[in-house]
Amino acid sequence: MHIKEAVDKDSDQILDLYTGLYPEHKGKIDTFRIPKAEAVTFIAEYNGEPAGFIILTYISYGAHTTGFGYIEELFIRKRYRSFGIGKLLVNRVISWCDRKGFNVIFLTTPKTNLGAIKFYRHLGFRKNGQIWLQYTNKKKQAKKRVA
Ligand SMILES: CC(C)(COP(=O)(O)OP(=O)(O)OC[C@H]1O[C@@H](n2cnc3c(N)ncnc32)[C@H](O)[C@@H]1OP(=O)(O)O)[C@@H](O)C(=O)NCCC(=O)NCCS
Repeated sequence: MHIKEAVDKDSDQILDLYTGLYPEHKGKIDTFRIPKAEAVTFIAEYNGEPAGFIILTYISYGAHTTGFGYIEELFIRKRYRSFGIGKLLVNRVISWCDRKGFNVIFLTTPKTNLGAIKFYRHLGFRKNGQIWLQYTNKKKQAKKRVA
């Protein structure tokens, strides 16, 4: 037995295996690609000065399925805290993920970071073990469930 790391040129082999797993999707998995984490960063400026930033890494599975986002970093300069900038940045990534069709955003934060925990709870994130989750796309999900 040999295990190799798949590279782009192996896509056809993977597609073949994939349609074995999901025969009902045969012919639809035309945009298949090996998932790779990518990232997007937003910077908030206040009076022309950078006040904070957020980095979202995400995995997207192509056109026929979905993906998810992970808040990798969020930081607001001390003098700009409590102005609503953190909330603006988080809402920005939530709507960005929503447009991409991602179902979930998650993040982790140390147990000792009580400020961040209160902040994320306030913004609707809920804890599941060590992970904080926010479900996006609620309407689209609800539609999918009844269809
Ligand atoms: C956590 C952090 C991002 C919050 O950013 P911020 O710009 O100060 O937060 P906002 O002003 O947007 O606050 C949004 C809401 O969360 C609440 N909130 C923010 N920080 C809070 C805290 N420490 N305790 C309780 N509530 C808090 C605010 O009251 C506000 O409520 P409102 O919408 O009802 O007015 C910022 O304090 C920070 O950069 N901390 C250091 C880095 C960090 O811990 N990052 C997160 C690690 S994953």
